[in-house]
Amino acid sequence: MAIVRTMTKADIEAVYDLECRSFSVPWSLDSLKKEIENKLAYYVVVEEDGAVAGYGGLWGVLGEGEVINIAVAIDYRGKGYGQLIMESLLDYSKEQGFERITLEVRYSNEVAKKLYIKNGFHQIAVRKNYYQKPTEDAIIMAYEVSK
Ligand SMILES: CC(C)(COP(=O)(O)OP(=O)(O)OC[C@H]1O[C@@H](n2cnc3c(N)ncnc32)[C@H](O)[C@@H]1OP(=O)(O)O)[C@@H](O)C(=O)NCCC(=O)NCCS
Repeated sequence: MAIVRTMTKADIEAVYDLECRSFSVPWSLDSLKKEIENKLAYYVVVEEDGAVAGYGGLWGVLGEGEVINIAVAIDYRGKGYGQLIMESLLDYSKEQGFERITLEVRYSNEVAKKLYIKNGFHQIAVRKNYYQKPTEDAIIMAYEVSK
């Protein structure tokens, strides 16, 4: 049974582990700890049988949301958890009255792009050589939140 809930301090080690396994340039443990205190941030985890299977979060700044990250642990991918996280971030954005949500994604990350397009995001720009390890362009995507 999977549930989506707000991320807490107790989840940080598991989320850090997930970060390290999912990204070549992961967030540090310290940065993740600070995010729990960040009043502009909203983070959720998907929990399956007590284990953190995925997480995601956004920042709300000046009436806009910016997705900071979404990751699902390898063993839990393809089970709809990325979609659950996305829906929770979209619901939160509607509640907050955000007009738009933006995000960045690696040019070659077809799986993530498919998830975002499925949820109504579209490409608005390309940021050259934005990512490191390996160096790669970022696609900037946006979603206009319906009232
Ligand atoms: C991107 C990611 C979060 C998707 O999570 P997930 O739980 O596996 O995705 P879901 O099972 O919820 O699938 C949701 C949608 O994502 C897309 N998707 C998921 N797996 C896919 C695959 N193997 N191939 C193509 N599209 C895929 C599809 O659009 C899917 O919807 P559909 O099933 O109706 O086709 C996950 O692959 C991940 O953690 N990747 C590594 C970290 C990462 O790249 N994060 C994004 C950073 S911008």
